[in-house]
Order: sequence, then C-alpha cells, then structure tokens
Amino acid sequence: MKAKTVFFCTNCGYETPKWYGKCPGCGDFNTMAERPSSWAETDKKAEKAIALGYSDHPSVKLSEVGLDREDRFITGTGELDRVLGGGAVKGSLILMAGEPGIGKSTLLLQISAQLSDTGNKVLYISGEESLRQLKMRAERLGREGDMYVLAETDMGRILSEIDRVSPDIVIADSVQTMSVDTLNSAPGSVAQVKECTLTFMRLSKGRNITVFLVGHVNKEGAIAGPKVMEHMVDCVLYFEGSQSSNYRILRAGKNRFGSTNEIGVFEMKDRGLIEVPNPSESLLSGRPMNTPGTCVTCVMEGTRPILAEVQALVATSVQNNPRRTSNGVEYNRAQLLLAVLEKRGGFRLGNCDAYINVIGGLNLNETAGDLATILAIASSFRDKPVPDDMAAFGEVGLTGELRSVKNMEQRIGELKKLGFTRVIVPKHSKMEDLSSKGIQILYAGTISEAMRQCGIL
Ligand code: TYD
Ligand code: MG
Repeated sequence: MKAKTVFFCTNCGYETPKWYGKCPGCGDFNTMAERPSSWAETDKKAEKAIALGYSDHPSVKLSEVGLDREDRFITGTGELDRVLGGGAVKGSLILMAGEPGIGKSTLLLQISAQLSDTGNKVLYISGEESLRQLKMRAERLGREGDMYVLAETDMGRILSEIDRVSPDIVIADSVQTMSVDTLNSAPGSVAQVKECTLTFMRLSKGRNITVFLVGHVNKEGAIAGPKVMEHMVDCVLYFEGSQSSNYRILRAGKNRFGSTNEIGVFEMKDRGLIEVPNPSESLLSGRPMNTPGTCVTCVMEGTRPILAEVQALVATSVQNNPRRTSNGVEYNRAQLLLAVLEKRGGFRLGNCDAYINVIGGLNLNETAGDLATILAIASSFRDKPVPDDMAAFGEVGLTGELRSVKNMEQRIGELKKLGFTRVIVPKHSKMEDLSSKGIQILYAGTISEAMRQCGIL
C-alpha cells in the first residue's frame, strides 16, 4: 500500500490532502510540497504537549496575578532592552531575525557576556560555529564572560545539555541549523524549523528559561522557513542594515510584552556592536554641505525623534522608461511624491531617472518625511541646495497641500539640539509657542510655498 502523504506549504506550513498551485493559507504560488502524513502526527503530539504544559497551572483571578519588576532580565544593552520593552521577560521566546552577516551572533554573544557577568547562567548553543571560532570572536569583542558554550545541532543532545547545565538564558544560533532526529527531513526545512521552535517554546514556558532564537532571513525579507515561527514566539526582533553602512537597526516586528514602535541603533565597529545613544548626530555626520539633492527631516521612531537625511538624484534619462529606485522611502510613496511634484509643482520629471535614498539604512515609514523627500528631489532637479541650517517635515497631500503631523514639539526640539536654525512646517500645525526655542519656524501651505522658502523656486 502506498504510504499516505499530505501537502504542506513551505512558506506558512498550511496543510492539505490535495495539491494547490496557490497556497490557501498565505496565497503564495508554487510553495506546496509533499511529505509523509506521519509527520503531521508528530506535530499534533507536540501541540498537545504545549497545551498540557499550559494547563499545569490552574486558573487564578486576574486581580491576584502579581507583577513584580524582577521578571525581566536587563541585558545591559540599553538599545536592546528598550526594543524589548524594558529587558527580556523571563521564560519568553525571542526570535532574532536578520540577513546573514548582519551581526546577530555578535550581538547575542555580547549580551551573553553581559548577562553572565551580572550573575545569570547563560548557555550559548552554536550550530554554525565551532567552539574555537566562538572563542576567537569573544576575544575580538574583548569579553568572554562566564557563559557556557556548546557547538551542537542535534536537539536531543541540546536538550540533555540544557538539563545538565540548567541555564536561565539559552541562545540558539541558528534554528535553521538544528534538527530533531525523529524527522527525516534536512535541517532548515519547514518541518524541522517548526519542530525545533516548538521544542524551544516548550522549554521556555515549561522551565521558565528565556530563549533567544536566531533565524536567518531570505532575500525577500521573510524569515527563511515557515511563517508559523512568528506565531509561536513571543517577540520577533528584526536586525537590519545595509552591508555598505555600519549602522544596524533593531526593531520589534511583534512583541507580547511591549510596544513595537521602539528601535535600537548600533554601529558595527572593529570590536563588536556599539550602541548609538544619539542616532541623529551619527546619522547626520559627514553630511554634504551646500549641495543640491539633500534635505534633513525628523521622524519619530517610537518615542524618539530621529533626524534623517533624504537624498535624491534626478537626471535626464537615456532610456524610454526612466529608472526609479527608492531606498528607505516606500517605492509607491516615492512614485506618488514624484507625481505630485510633476503635477502640482510644475516640474517636468516624466523623462528623468530618479534615485531616492535615506542615509544610514533608516526607513521613513512615516508620512512626515514627505516634504523633505519632495524638497530633495526638487533641489536635485533644479540643482539648487536646501540651506544647510534648514530642515523640513510634513505630510504631502495629492493636491500638493501640506498636512500637519504629530509630535511637533519633540521634532523641533531635536532639530534645535543638532544646531538647525530654520524649519519648514505645515501651515496649519497645532503647537505651543516655540519662539523662545531659538529656532525659526517657517509655515508653508503647499509644496510650492515650501520650495520658495528654501530658495529652490
Ligand atoms: P555576525 O554576527 O557573524 O553575523 P550573523 O550572525 O548575523 O550572520 O557578523 C559578521 C559580520 O560582522 C562580519 O562581516 C564581520 C563583522 N564584525 C565586525 O565588523 N566587528 C566585529 O567585532 C565582529 C565580531 C564582526
Ligand atoms: Mg551568525
């Protein structure tokens, strides 16, 4: 008799007895693969075990649940602690996702050293590097801490080692290298990644161990392997940055114990990752002076205002279809802003290539960056610089009008701190009187008015 098989999606893990071209779970095409149905049973067993793990505790009244401040580990790296919402919660499962080479292992080795220095028992499990390589990295970082290290990929041996050492914190680097021997698929496959994540989840909930799980991200920015991982963990941290810049940004994509708005900024140096407590200053360092095609704005990253430099290069295209690329400003938003500038500002951009870039790998995912993007493009097109001491922020509407944004006072305060003396803001902004702050506020109702104020028109 032919062994029973099921089809599953290699992206989201959706299971069906029938093959589909388009996964009914996540809508991706050509992601269905076949596997023996017996695997489904291991999954079910695992899920049951989790359910049982939770029901160990009888129900209690919510009012009787105590919240003591001790239930978090302060990692000692302020930027990471803030992104986590004030340290790592005990017994939580945290996924650290990022492209290979971005610095995940470096960051986790650094915090392992700090955590073990402050009296916590840390077990660092590496499935990618040998103990010698770990030692060399620790020496390079200049701190070894008092942590336990293990080079292992087999989950069975990992679990027995955790049993023996009984650590407070486990780092598993990376989940894609680890495997359970009851499944006969390769490490990194959906089934293996799911099973290993489940095992770490049971471990963290059942034994109150904080687990940091490293997950590699593929080219499209998705965590390689199944999306199901995201549902199982408590926090997903994305470690981002470009290979060309030394700045690294840590952001929370999901956080059961805090907000997802905060970001942490690091710089990769010779001896590891250094925290950048004042990102605005670092991001603006080396800014070209009196040069067309750049404009500074202020975006809110969680509770922190951060200054960002938007650059644009506009040049007559030699192709029929002009090239447009945008980094740090969402592509469709950039297209929209180019169209507004063409139609409402009277700029003939139709036959121009346009390249837009936000310095330092920062993402302007806030509409407050619109005006600076428009000014950078117009400045490059006209070849006239925006004055060095001038910054701008505001949302741009489809009629070319400027709309007010939130947190005016904080943004202006940050600009003042970094030495800016003039700022263009939307005309109808509501804010307290800032004349005493020593920064000149220029109000503009439309993009044309703003361009006139900075001398582009
Ligand atoms: P790594 O932490 O190994 O990345 P990941 O675990 O995310 O794959 O980081 C590797 C890169 O960082 C590598 O290109 C070398 C660089 N690096 C430094 O610049 N300084 C350092 O002190 C260390 C340890 C690494
Ligand atoms: Mg690594």
